[in-house]
Amino acid sequence: VAPRGLPPSRMASLGILLGLLITSCFTFCLSCQNSNEFALTNPEKRSTKESDSKKTKAEEELDTEVLEVFHPTQEWQALRPGQAVPAGSHVRLNLQTGAREVKRQQEDKFQSDLKGLKKGRRLDINTNTYTSQDLKSALAKFKEGAQMENSKEEQARQAKVKQLFRPIEELKKEFDELNVVIETDMQIMVRLINKFNSSNSSLEEKIAALFDLEYYVHQMDNAQDLLSFGGLQVVINGLNSTEPLVKEYAAFVLGAAFSSNPKVQVEAIEGGALQKLLVILATEQPLTAKKKVLFALCSLLRHFPYAQQQFLKLGGLQVLRSLVQEKSTKVLAVRVVTLLYDLVTEKMFAEEEAELTQDSSSEKLQQYRQVHLLPELREQGWCEITAHLLALPEHDAREKVLQTLGVLLTTCWDHYRQDPQLSRTLGSLQSEYQALASLELQEGEDEGYFRELLASINNLLKELR
Ligand SMILES: *[C@@H]1O[C@H](CO)[C@@H](O)[C@H](O)[C@H]1NC(C)=O
Ligand SMILES: *[C@@H]1O[C@H](CO)[C@@H](O)[C@H](O)[C@H]1NC(C)=O
Ligand SMILES: *[C@@H]1O[C@H](CO)[C@@H](O)[C@H](O)[C@H]1NC(C)=O
Repeated sequence: VAPRGLPPSRMASLGILLGLLITSCFTFCLSCQNSNEFALTNPEKRSTKESDSKKTKAEEELDTEVLEVFHPTQEWQALRPGQAVPAGSHVRLNLQTGAREVKRQQEDKFQSDLKGLKKGRRLDINTNTYTSQDLKSALAKFKEGAQMENSKEEQARQAKVKQLFRPIEELKKEFDELNVVIETDMQIMVRLINKFNSSNSSLEEKIAALFDLEYYVHQMDNAQDLLSFGGLQVVINGLNSTEPLVKEYAAFVLGAAFSSNPKVQVEAIEGGALQKLLVILATEQPLTAKKKVLFALCSLLRHFPYAQQQFLKLGGLQVLRSLVQEKSTKVLAVRVVTLLYDLVTEKMFAEEEAELTQDSSSEKLQQYRQVHLLPELREQGWCEITAHLLALPEHDAREKVLQTLGVLLTTCWDHYRQDPQLSRTLGSLQSEYQALASLELQEGEDEGYFRELLASINNLLKELR
């Protein structure tokens, strides 16, 4: 489970609160001239002409810093304190570095967002809740005020500054009007769903709403709250969209929401999610969409034997088979095999557990017993398919395939034994990994990765002898 800090809305509010504090301090301490830290918000000093040139220099440096408008690019960039952000930028808090990061909101942002997502958990500070335009214009006004050094204009300047730094209550009211309030996760999800569901939203807005929503539904409670106001169904219906990107990001949200969340998984089955996911996998779609749909399918099926039964009934194995066999989706083969391996072992563990606890009456076990996965796998040619996948060049792909061959060994034993290509492949992999394992050993690793691969190959060869 990814680490979580304060929800983004709260982070934003904290920042604003801090801002309010500093501003109010300034309001009430206009005449205090004791601190360098407040030099920034204390243009007073200049007119009093007490300040030495060093201080003025420092002020100016700080001034340019605070007034600097950040120019986001397509990549996430760390935001320095005080930098202003153009409206429409995407802001997040990198929980690993603690830095606020910004980038340009763009159509192809979604792909790079995904990369960022892998690097570190993000907190999206939705820039819609307060427009940075407001911030910018306030800063611009401040600059005007700060530049007025002529003491004749002192009064006008004072008035202007006063106008800028109004009493805290007034500011609060204004922020409220800008909709900067502490939103609960529920409120945020409702807002995002409305955005996604609205016919007025552009495609980009819809995708952005889904992208943000995905962050929230990782939390079990949030995913369940999504059910309570019909949000889940809206996302499931998104799978019907004619836009491949909407399908893709709807699946992205669903995958996160289903994950180890039985309540949501049950609702999703009732809401027709399984059929829709399979239809997408079975039809012509961009690979990126199929990838996320496969991910959503995996999280829907895991630890949910009823869904697994339905999956078999709906011809899910045929759909997965064509994924593995079609040229355009072959790259998904390892993910498919991993899913099958997980389903097979899950059922085995359920049986083992029942044996250990001497309790075979549980509802879940009964459900698992209705999932006739192994016979179907055999019938539908998965013995051959899995055997041929061992020819994949990557070590980790082979590792997955070897594991799967292991759990299918009993079911596919005669197929595997009679497959000349499989025994050739196993033979050549054996010598390859013997060499790699001995290198590994020379480097002092006596429980190395290649040694393990070699062990499972040796084991398979022994069993098939
Ligand atoms: C769409 O926008 C128009 C005007 O901007 C508004 O009158 C209408 O209520 C909106 N519809 C929805 C579904 O939000
Ligand atoms: C989504 O929009 C449809 C019609 O546009 C509406 O009937 C439905 O209630 C909306 N769903 C949610 C959860 O807002
Ligand atoms: C979604 O598409 C499926 C066929 O793929 C269709 O049966 C179903 O009625 C559609 N649902 C909605 C809500 O449009």
